[in-house]
Amino acid sequence: MAFSSFFKPIVTSCLLIFLLAIGLTIANAQLSTNFYSKSCPNLFSAVKPVVQSAINNEKRMGASLVRLFFHDCFVNGCDGSVLLDDTSSFTGEKTANPNRNSARGFDVIDNIKSAVEKACPGVVSCADIVAIAARDSAVILGGPSWDVKLGRRDARTTSLSAANNGIPPPTSNLNQLISRFSALGLSTRDLVALTGSHTIGQARCTSFRTRIYNETNIDSSFARTRRSNCPSTSGTGDNNLAPLDLQTPTSFDNNYFKNLLNQRGLLHSDQQLFNGGSTDSIVRTYSNGQSTFFSDFVAGMIKMGDISPLTGSQGEIRKNCRRAN
Ligand code: HEM
Ligand SMILES: *[C@@H]1O[C@H](CO)[C@@H](O)[C@H](O)[C@H]1NC(C)=O
Repeated sequence: MAFSSFFKPIVTSCLLIFLLAIGLTIANAQLSTNFYSKSCPNLFSAVKPVVQSAINNEKRMGASLVRLFFHDCFVNGCDGSVLLDDTSSFTGEKTANPNRNSARGFDVIDNIKSAVEKACPGVVSCADIVAIAARDSAVILGGPSWDVKLGRRDARTTSLSAANNGIPPPTSNLNQLISRFSALGLSTRDLVALTGSHTIGQARCTSFRTRIYNETNIDSSFARTRRSNCPSTSGTGDNNLAPLDLQTPTSFDNNYFKNLLNQRGLLHSDQQLFNGGSTDSIVRTYSNGQSTFFSDFVAGMIKMGDISPLTGSQGEIRKNCRRAN
């Protein structure tokens, strides 16, 4: 009796401290736009010029950096996993189908990381660098801006199969696209807005060969033009490039959606967004008004950036974005 009444307040306060700790952990698990405002006040001014000079060298790089953020977030959340080179203990994402001979921009991320490490050593994650580089790229190519949420930490490992399973292939139909995005908490509207990123960048012949030779929901003169640099035989010209937006491939605008209205989507998955289904009306809205596209795109990028981040004491702050510490 005496024992229990002596210990009761101790047990109660331990319980309270425990609950408080859980509460703090949950609060900590939120990303925030001012995460590095004290620990790395010059973060954004360290990143932007590196992105700018990479895009000055090659405009396509802006597209490649936007895509890197998508490929990071869709595989185990936005945790910098896409950046990891293979090691003796795991085969990473770089040679998975969606990335092999395709994902690029890793050198630019390395250069940004060097600039950031110089400004604030050991503080900023590679996952956050990818998120900022994607925003800066969209802005530099003429797209909208937004405040990037930060505080992600970096994964220590990943796997090839996670990337093969995580990123939808261009052969996907609309239902498959909707359900993959939905599994990650992204709506059908997010799907259409985010895929509007295909207003910039390039695709390889192997990604659109079947569409330009064998599909019927395609503008015939567009198909003919694309066939001229993409031979029908698989294995020949596989890496020949064509712009995802035939009109303005280095400007972030709403021409991608206008192309879809004219059956000029390059990928099978692109034209799925305007093929008599539930997303036709969203495509029409975006093609009629760039500002609605821009605001939905921003909302989608912020939501995508929230996909299961590592926070608090999870993961690590990598020193070199290509490998765990
Ligand atoms: C809806 C599902 C999607 C599919 C099936 C898909 C598929 C593809 C494919 C096949 C390519 C060309 C790759 C190659 O041939 O090397 C590509 C390029 C690209 N994707 Fe997507 N994508 C999707 C959604 C997205 C999203 C959500 C974003 C960004 C938020 C995005 C951004 C890009 C960009 C910017 C490029 C051009 C990259 C470059 O030029 O380096 N894509 N995508
Ligand atoms: C087009 O379809 C035919 C018949 O199914 C097939 O043999 C051929 O390989 C396809 N061509 C391409 C480029 O996909």
